[in-house]
Amino acid sequence: MNRILHIIGSPRANSASREIGETLVDRVRKRHPNVQVDVLDVWSADFPAFDEEIMNAKYADLLGVEQTLAQKEAWAAIGLLAARVTSADLIIVSTPMWNFGIPYRLKMLIDTVTQNGHLFRFDPATGFTGMATGRAVLVCARGINFATGSHTPEAEFDFQKSYMRMWLKMIGITDVEPIILEQLLFGSEADSNARLAAKAQAHVIAERL
Ligand SMILES: Cc1cc2nc3c(=O)[nH]c(=O)nc-3n(C[C@H](O)[C@H](O)[C@H](O)COP(=O)(O)O)c2cc1C
Repeated sequence: MNRILHIIGSPRANSASREIGETLVDRVRKRHPNVQVDVLDVWSADFPAFDEEIMNAKYADLLGVEQTLAQKEAWAAIGLLAARVTSADLIIVSTPMWNFGIPYRLKMLIDTVTQNGHLFRFDPATGFTGMATGRAVLVCARGINFATGSHTPEAEFDFQKSYMRMWLKMIGITDVEPIILEQLLFGSEADSNARLAAKAQAHVIAERL
């Protein structure tokens, strides 16, 4: 284990998903003291502008047309961000559920960095081939209850874990361990219990990494 990328998707100081992600990082560090930890907080990160220059660069790439110098520079900036993803042995994603999906800044990261030739290659005959090679732990925090039989069963209402799993698969990562914290809005006792259980799970997962 050489490199961990910890993607932080919550802007809250008391974020549950962030706390559990950091617990996991600390545990992995104990087992692998030389591991490098790259923290990508989507709320403070300065993403490359996703403007018309980038769009033209993307379509030039897709159509096999030579990129202009400005487009090459814009495309290279995306490459630097993508390298943080492809060079990680372990990606930890800490994400809240917002409106049954993920926060828009995390989606912004995904829309910016998920580019042909940087995170995946696409061939009409063979489909997507991801360029990331690591494994992932997905820490998903949610306010309410997603059990079968609840008002919001996961099969119908989850666009958080399912979306993040799909993204990880698209970029090449299928070894994904989820840690789910639910009912965090049901009082301080429910919140503490969910965090305690998730920490215990993080400790077990760290032993396998
Ligand atoms: C804008 C916003 C939208 C939310 N939408 C949902 C939701 O759709 N379903 C849910 O279970 N909880 C929802 N919540 C509650 C959060 O998922 C919950 O507070 C969780 O702890 C946030 O993760 P964090 O502690 O890592 O910030 C929402 C919270 C916010 C701020």
